[in-house]
Amino acid sequence: MESHPAVTVATPELARPSVFVRHQFLIKRVFSLSGLFFGGYVVVHLLTNASVLASVQMFQLNVDRIHSLGPLLPLVEWIFLFIPIIFHALVGWAIIFGASPNLSDYRYVGNVRYTLQRVTAIILFFFIVGHVLHMHHLGTAFGGGHFKPEEASSSMGAALQLAFWIPLFYALGVLSAAFHLGNGIWTAGITWGLWITPAAQKRANSIAIAVGLLVAVLGIAAIVGARNVDVDRARTIEKTMQARKQWLLGEGAAASGMVDRPATK
Ligand code: HEM
Repeated sequence: MESHPAVTVATPELARPSVFVRHQFLIKRVFSLSGLFFGGYVVVHLLTNASVLASVQMFQLNVDRIHSLGPLLPLVEWIFLFIPIIFHALVGWAIIFGASPNLSDYRYVGNVRYTLQRVTAIILFFFIVGHVLHMHHLGTAFGGGHFKPEEASSSMGAALQLAFWIPLFYALGVLSAAFHLGNGIWTAGITWGLWITPAAQKRANSIAIAVGLLVAVLGIAAIVGARNVDVDRARTIEKTMQARKQWLLGEGAAASGMVDRPATK
């Protein structure tokens, strides 16, 4: 029998869709949830910071409450804040660069809000990195990390008063967050099927505006509050509060019999 040399026929390989396309449904929902979740945190964070307008004592008590988590705080920060916002930002950049083609399939494609959502996303990315380095102890190695939890008002005030452009940078950040979260809640309502018809989407505009205004007012209040802190006076009040805390701790320990009470006549 006549034998033929083996012939291999090249079959065209189908291009494997990107990871975003393959898991689009899940990624879009986790992306949306992480944005909403972080948005909730932003409101609480700004409300806490704006309490400096009430008094140095009030802001210190609010900060102390958060820091009473002690060694658990970094864990809580990473699980509930850093990981969600890093995920949101990574997927956000992928959307901006068009790696996830169908994620932007909304009715309002092409209008001003669609563009502003992306512009504010980019501003927020650089603002959040700058803000964390400026205030959080993670930024100490880079000359930042100015916020000291036990001296909440004076350290925040001094950090905002370092240069004239710092409050402007913060104002740009919080106003971007106000638009991005307000409009983001509106698009999230579409992601989760809450407002589908044009009439319902029109009604949802008022929710978006209310959330945006809330973030803007709280953010500007926090900046004005920090700018107006009298740093030396705040430091004196904080020192008194620290001394009182130490005294109360000593009294508590003495009352429980762990240490001897100071001898009194
Ligand atoms: C204060 C921080 C942020 C908050 C509270 C936030 C919140 C949100 C929310 C709630 C949405 C709507 C999600 C949906 O439609 O289901 C959204 C959309 C979006 N976010 Fe963020 N985000 C923040 C920061 C960022 C950053 C840093 C980036 C990336 C650089 C980013 C990129 C985007 C993009 C591109 C969209 C639009 C997605 C689309 O239209 O398909 N976001 N964000």
